[in-house]
Amino acid sequence: MNINFQTQTGTLQLRRWPLNQPNTSLQAWDAADELLITHAIEAINQFAATQQRQPKVLIINDSFGALSCALADCQQIQVNDSFLAEQGTLYNRQQNNLSTQNLNQITSLDTYPDADIVLLKLPSNHSYLQYILQQLAKVVNDKTVILSSAKAKDITRNVMTMFEQSLGPSSASLTVKKCRLITSQFSNKPQQAKTVTFPIVWPLEGTDFTVVNHANVFSREKLDLGARVLLQHIPQMQDHYTVIDLGCGNGVLGLKLLQQDKQIKLILCDESYMAIDSARQTIANNLPQQLAQCQFIIDDCLQKQTDKSADYIICNPPFHQQQAVTRHIANQMFTDAKRVLKQGGHFRIVANRHLNYAEVLQRLFGNCRQLAADPKFVILEAIKRS
Ligand SMILES: C[S@@+](CC[C@H](N)C(=O)[O-])C[C@H]1O[C@@H](n2cnc3c(N)ncnc32)[C@H](O)[C@@H]1O
Repeated sequence: MNINFQTQTGTLQLRRWPLNQPNTSLQAWDAADELLITHAIEAINQFAATQQRQPKVLIINDSFGALSCALADCQQIQVNDSFLAEQGTLYNRQQNNLSTQNLNQITSLDTYPDADIVLLKLPSNHSYLQYILQQLAKVVNDKTVILSSAKAKDITRNVMTMFEQSLGPSSASLTVKKCRLITSQFSNKPQQAKTVTFPIVWPLEGTDFTVVNHANVFSREKLDLGARVLLQHIPQMQDHYTVIDLGCGNGVLGLKLLQQDKQIKLILCDESYMAIDSARQTIANNLPQQLAQCQFIIDDCLQKQTDKSADYIICNPPFHQQQAVTRHIANQMFTDAKRVLKQGGHFRIVANRHLNYAEVLQRLFGNCRQLAADPKFVILEAIKRS
């Protein structure tokens, strides 16, 4: 993996987070970061020269902290939906001996603070982009420098319309290393801003339940196909079980577990702040009397859970991190699940057939049963034996 990142401010050593990445060709930054940094440095220098003070910089969606590290001298507020992005930023700042005293990390659901310069790395999810632009429109003014970047292929007419409607006149630069920079000028009268209300709430098929989805949560508007199969194979609970919904997203699997009305303790974990809040709202809206049985935990897989503490873990594992398709998070979830299960505890997952997770679980747990299958998915269960 190339970890040497050359910027105008020097060479940084940046790593993707978590560190155990099998695909060594992936870097912790890309050309869209480079473009944003070049223009940010110009804007910061110009601001300091004209205003006689350092600007306050708001950095949104900085996957592994490349922007934060390259601009480490300025006062920064970094907004992320991802706990891994927060951790990656802290790790990379520490590894490069960059103080974190001028860094304030806030989550995607916090109110954005005002800022002199906004740097936005475009998310691939358009709902989340719309949400970010709506939050920005509440705090920027016509003097705020607003710079955004992405791969040129992702800056479509639709994306430019979102910027213009939410913020005001916006233009995209020529393409540099397959990326473009969007410069926006906030106008007090944005064109007919089409405000979308988040979170989105949709009915769960075949039930009276509704599911709450914040803008950046998996399966935003309807049930995921894998989750649909797993919902048909939700295990039978017993009173006093400790159960974990690992990578809970909107909480739809946990909701079905609670519906059995057993005295279980349910732990819902995810690395997305929006997922955790969606899960909390999904359960609060549908089974408010069972909310007290639940804990909602932001985590990287099951790092915060103690060994041999759970009776059952259910999981619809992720297959990508940011834009990269990867198995390493699923693998980490499997390893953590084995550590956290009690002897005799069960781990049940849904997976795409072609991923061949049965073999992975068989190797790890020494057993794995296929409980069901359809043309696309399998339901697998492994038991922790001594
Ligand atoms: C395929 S989705 C499943 C969501 C939900 N359980 C469902 O079935 O609809 C995978 C979930 O794993 C979460 N996730 C990804 N990486 C994670 C990590 N390192 N730790 C915890 N959760 C993670 C994602 O945010 C996403 O919500």
